[in-house]
Formats: sequence, C-alpha cells, structure tokens
Amino acid sequence: PETITVQELANRMAARQGEVIKALMKMGVMATVTQSIDADTAELVVEEFGHRVRRVADSDVEIGIEGVEDKDEDLLSRPPVVTVMGHVDHGKTSLLDALRTTDTAAGEAGGITQHIGAYQVKLASGAKITFIDTPGHEAFTAMRARGAAVTDVVVLVVAADDGVMPQTIEAIKHANAADAPVIVAINKMDKPGANPARVRQDLLSHGIVVESMGGDVQDIEVSALKKTNLDKLEEAILLQAEILDLKANPDRAAEGVVIEGRLDRGRGPVSTVLVQKGTLRKGDIVVAGAEWGRVRALLDDRNRTVAEAGPSMPVEVLGIAGVPEAGSPFVVVENENRAREISEFRQRKIKEHAVAGQTAARGTLDQMLA
Ligand code: GTP
Ligand code: MG
Repeated sequence: PETITVQELANRMAARQGEVIKALMKMGVMATVTQSIDADTAELVVEEFGHRVRRVADSDVEIGIEGVEDKDEDLLSRPPVVTVMGHVDHGKTSLLDALRTTDTAAGEAGGITQHIGAYQVKLASGAKITFIDTPGHEAFTAMRARGAAVTDVVVLVVAADDGVMPQTIEAIKHANAADAPVIVAINKMDKPGANPARVRQDLLSHGIVVESMGGDVQDIEVSALKKTNLDKLEEAILLQAEILDLKANPDRAAEGVVIEGRLDRGRGPVSTVLVQKGTLRKGDIVVAGAEWGRVRALLDDRNRTVAEAGPSMPVEVLGIAGVPEAGSPFVVVENENRAREISEFRQRKIKEHAVAGQTAARGTLDQMLA
C-alpha cells in the first residue's frame, strides 16, 4: 500500500507541518513529521485542507496538490473545443481546412486523416474556436471515442449527397456518451445530388431533431469546396459555446489531455496536448500519462514557437522523454522529483494492468469515456 510521510504531505500541500499534525490529531491519528501515514488517511487530510485527490487508478490513490479546485472568481471564459465527426469522406478535414483557409488535406497520405489533428481558428471578431479533426474510417473508432471525451461541442459532418451512414450514427452515439451538444454541418451542398431534406429526415430517426423540424439542434448547409456558409457554422458554434458558458482558470499550473503522441525522426518524442486549465509554459515540468520531462519548446498548429498555451489551446510539446498514451492526462508539477515519482507510480500501474491482462491503452480509453 502507498504511504507518505507527514513532512512530504505538508510539502505537497504547501501547508505547515504543525497544521497537518493537528488535522491528523482531530482524526485520532498521532504522528510525528517523519512518520508515514497510509493513503486513505492522507486523502482525508488532503480533503480537509480543501484540495482534491487525484485518483490515478481505481485501486489506488495518488496524493497531490495539482488537483486544487478553482475558485469561481478565478474562472475566465475560454474558447470552445469542437470535435469534427462524421462518416469517412464526408468532408471533415476539407471543412477544417476551409475554416483555416489552408490545405492540410492535400498533404495527407491518400487524403485520409490518420491521426487527430488539433487546430485553433481565430475569427475576425477575435473569438477563437479549437477544432479537433477525427478520422472517419471505421478502423479508427477508438480515436473518435477519445475525441468526443475532450470536446464541448460536436460538429457532425454529413455529406448531402450521401446521407446518414454507419459512422455518422456512431458519431451521434459518441456525442451522446460525452454529453456534448451536436451541430450538424450538411456538407457538399455544391454537388448535383445534394439532398439536405433527406439528411434531416434520416437524422430524425437517430434522435437528432434539427431546428427546422422543431428540435433544438442547429443545422447549417455548407460546402467546404466552395467555402459557403462557413461564417454561419462558426456563428452556430459560438452561440452554442455561449449557452455552455465555458470557463477555466488560466492562472494556475496547467492540466489537460494528450491528444496524440508520436516519435518524430528529427525531434524525438512529440506530444500534441490540449490545455484544459492553467497555462503551460516553456520550462514547466510536465507529467503526461506515464512519461515526464521539462518543456523544451511549445509549437502551435502552424508550427510556430509559442511561449505559452492557455485554456483550450492545442499545442505540440517537445521535451517529454517518451511518447505518452493518447487520451491520458497531463499535468504540470512543482519539481522533477515529483514528476519522477508520479511517472514511476503510473508505470507500475500500467505493468500491473498489463499483468491483469488489460492493456494500458484500454484502461485509458475506458477512463476517458467514464
Ligand atoms: P476521412 O478523414 O477519411 O474520414 O475523410 P474526411 O471526412 O476528412 O473527408 P475529406 O475532407 O478528406 O474529403 C473527402 C473528399 O470529399 C475529398 O475528395 C474532398 O475534396 C471532397 N469534398 C469535401 N468537401 C466537399 C464539398 O463541400 N464539396 C465537394 N464537391 N467535395 C467535397
Ligand atoms: Mg479527414
């Protein structure tokens, strides 16, 4: 079982040792600063001090102050995180490209999205929207499930000439599971065979009732190719974001989720992360999944070096020693010892899971969906 000394517990909470000892006494536990207490007792003390305890795995508890609850007055409005989902080839990546007015789809292998790309679009009004692209091919179900779990809003792309297809239905299920509101983008309106009325009708039979049919789901007819109605789609997203009243505290140690990790030939391990709270900066010590390191550089979605990344910003992180599991949480900690400790703890957990016949990836995905 995990134990911790009173001294270390006090350090991690930035509390006085005397106060911790007093709190323990109130619980009927007599301990000196050098004595160890068990994780359950430590958890009670941590809660007593108003901190949250981070559960790394069902069976065990890791104690830390990185889970400090934010006060309402520290929360500032943040951009919405929008996941673009839909059937293969219905135009998700093209739509994102149109929104970014760039053309990354052209550079993709075979034009099929094989990873989750994350981008931030800044509108003329100054408002920002974060988009996460997901692959529509059925082999990538797990990746899509991951996208839905970090998202505030789902943009469901349905090609007007093809209609509701199996992965459209799957995307609806993921959005529902993540409790994320859906906005329907009826794409490829420029095509001769476009039949948006049929799309609306088919969506109805899958529980998506659009506004024109008396429901509350916004639907926008667009063409990624001709770049039509993109402003209406953005307006719909911002309206939805306003309803959700999305907020985060930018002024604290950063926390978020790993969108993807990969080994880059020239740059070594590269992690794409989405910051959810706080601000991530160069020089920060980060634990991502079971990996850790000091942030050497931060790059935005256009490969530009940035000094920091605040809430809802997707950013590439260099400096983490390994490739973290996609979907795992990342957190900034106060020092290298702490980082090493958490990373070792998680690696031990992963091994235990593996022994139990459960892969780490599976565990992470289940946690995300929970
Ligand atoms: P996956 O990532 O593989 O699931 O596909 P996707 O949904 O990202 O589709 P993608 O953007 O790669 O587009 C698929 C094909 O549809 C490409 O050939 C695009 O040029 C075409 N396409 C996308 N949007 C439109 C559109 O609005 N009109 C027309 N005519 N073609 C489009
Ligand atoms: Mg794509």
